[in-house]
Amino acid sequence: MGRTRAKVTIVGAGNVGHSAAQWMLSHRLADVVLVDVIEGMPQGKALDLLEAEPIEGVDVRITGTNGYDETEQSDIVVIVAGIARKPGMSREDLLATNAGIVRGVTEQVTKRSPNAHLIVVTNPLDVMVYLVHKISRFPPERVMGQSGALDSTRFRTFIAQTLGVSVQDVSAMVIGAHSDTHMVPLASLATVGGIPLRRLLSPDRIAALVDRTRKGGAEIVSLLKTGSAFFAPGAAIAQMVEAILLDRKRVLPLSAYLSGQYGVRDLYVGVPAVLGAGGVERILDAPMDDGERKAFDAAVASIRENVALLKL
Ligand code: NAI
Ligand code: 2OP
Repeated sequence: MGRTRAKVTIVGAGNVGHSAAQWMLSHRLADVVLVDVIEGMPQGKALDLLEAEPIEGVDVRITGTNGYDETEQSDIVVIVAGIARKPGMSREDLLATNAGIVRGVTEQVTKRSPNAHLIVVTNPLDVMVYLVHKISRFPPERVMGQSGALDSTRFRTFIAQTLGVSVQDVSAMVIGAHSDTHMVPLASLATVGGIPLRRLLSPDRIAALVDRTRKGGAEIVSLLKTGSAFFAPGAAIAQMVEAILLDRKRVLPLSAYLSGQYGVRDLYVGVPAVLGAGGVERILDAPMDDGERKAFDAAVASIRENVALLKL
């Protein structure tokens, strides 16, 4: 019998990888293959997840492996292999080590799944996704980075907490770079039940929410001390996977290849996009106020500087 369910490979079965697998399982999205270099670890995590299926009432296949044969003909490959930030480290500190890992992983997965969508998660995100774009030679609509889905869910959480309202009624988006200094939470577009955020909170309180969002990853790192966030990152990956597999045409901020949009060429930057079966089907033009546009331009400049370090 042929395949009836979609197949998603996650390379890097660490904290974020297994969290993404768990969210995908609970949403019954796809069969999942977990790949990692640590012997026994992806197999153990796969078996552990599988043993939760009778409780969840789910029948998806979860496979763990240290090789790539099992990943053949994946519909989506999530690349989340690499090292994570330790306290005091910036995402850019990770660049050299993770570039080597991501390069090797990309070569392996693209050989076996030439038609897959590639969702890059490894940091520094906007640089790693550019690297994957170059190495894979896949069309840009099938190569994207997970950044804005996570940063936006943090921004929405903080807004909802501050106002004492349901997260469901908060709409907010974060674009720019996935970095503490160059993230651009778009306060000018944030709404609560359709009411502009700027009508509900003072500029100072909004500035504090924007700042906390920018440092949202670092806040978790400083609490955990031994690694970085994984539950919300895993949920953000699952949200993107669902948008593609179910052709939902979700409007999500993500790191997308720009070829003139926003006045930027040949770079991956966080922008709002329509995500469906065709991958990044359209990039939307987000209006920004002067301060936000300045921050966005600075984000573009910083990503370009870091991409130059790859010496491609
Ligand atoms: P982790 O250390 O828990 O997991 C990383 C896994 O990658 C490890 O199990 C390691 O053995 C594996 N790995 C290393 N080299 C490999 C290779 N060549 N092939 C296959 N697997 C390999 O780290 P965590 O917390 O899961 O984070 C992973 C990456 O994701 C980090 O770079 C982190 O900064 C990034 N991240 C990005 C986010 C985003 O929003 N874009 C959010 C959260 C994390
Ligand atoms: C985060 O934002 C580390 O990029 C990761 O939590």
